[in-house]
Amino acid sequence: MGAMTAPQNIVILTGAGISAESGIDTFRGGGGLWEQHRVEDVATPEAFARDPDLVLRFYDMRRAAIQTREPNAAHRALARLEREWAGQVTVVTQNVDDLHERGGSHAVIHMHGEHLNAWCTACDVRSRWTGPLIDRPPCPVCGTRALRPDIVWFGEIPYHMDAIQSALAAADLFVSIGTSGAVYPAAGFVRLARELGAATLELNLERSQGSAWFDETRLGPASAVVTAWVDALLG
Ligand code: OAD
Repeated sequence: MGAMTAPQNIVILTGAGISAESGIDTFRGGGGLWEQHRVEDVATPEAFARDPDLVLRFYDMRRAAIQTREPNAAHRALARLEREWAGQVTVVTQNVDDLHERGGSHAVIHMHGEHLNAWCTACDVRSRWTGPLIDRPPCPVCGTRALRPDIVWFGEIPYHMDAIQSALAAADLFVSIGTSGAVYPAAGFVRLARELGAATLELNLERSQGSAWFDETRLGPASAVVTAWVDALLG
């Protein structure tokens, strides 16, 4: 990697921690979503087949909740970086909220899907969706009542893996923000980025499971550490 001020490509992986200060629950740790719900009850294709009402109600609540939340300083800092950095800035997010977009970022890859989409399992089209799915509304495209949350469940393959691989291959700097490093393939991106020649930086409240793979770790709440990192980078 050249001097920090030289134009370079930055790939940023984000997780639930970047949205925590916006009031969206993380998944792991005290009070995390996976303490309140068993993953296998709500976040697998088998759960949806077994008890669709339970799964649809869970995601209806989450979809309604994110629409009452606002992006925080960390989301806005990444948007500023995208605007002002001479090189390319790509956000790869595991988050299914839309806070990066509402914070002003444009180059955002949602590898685990999006709450504000519904996916028609009959015609395979995704439509923007802000309301509930529990009443089995018809697909706006084909009319079939076969919509499901556009969320990548455990056992399903994350979206846009080719685009992510390309972004990682072109990255000079890989930054991980607010993710525990517990879920693959995202947890493996740091090693891939390293192998492909990128410098690696972790910004998190606490060390992630893959912390040892990063060249550098800065600990603290995202609103503080992400903002400070972007400020320093942009000078
Ligand atoms: P986790 O809940 O596993 O991890 C959140 C991370 O954010 C933890 O390391 C926290 O220490 C950190 N954190 C909490 N508050 C923070 C703050 N204010 N600032 C900075 N960091 C903070 O969430 P993810 O790693 O995103 O998948 O979870 C990965 C995937 O597991 C999710 O995308 C989801 C889940 O199952 C699907 O739903 C498909």
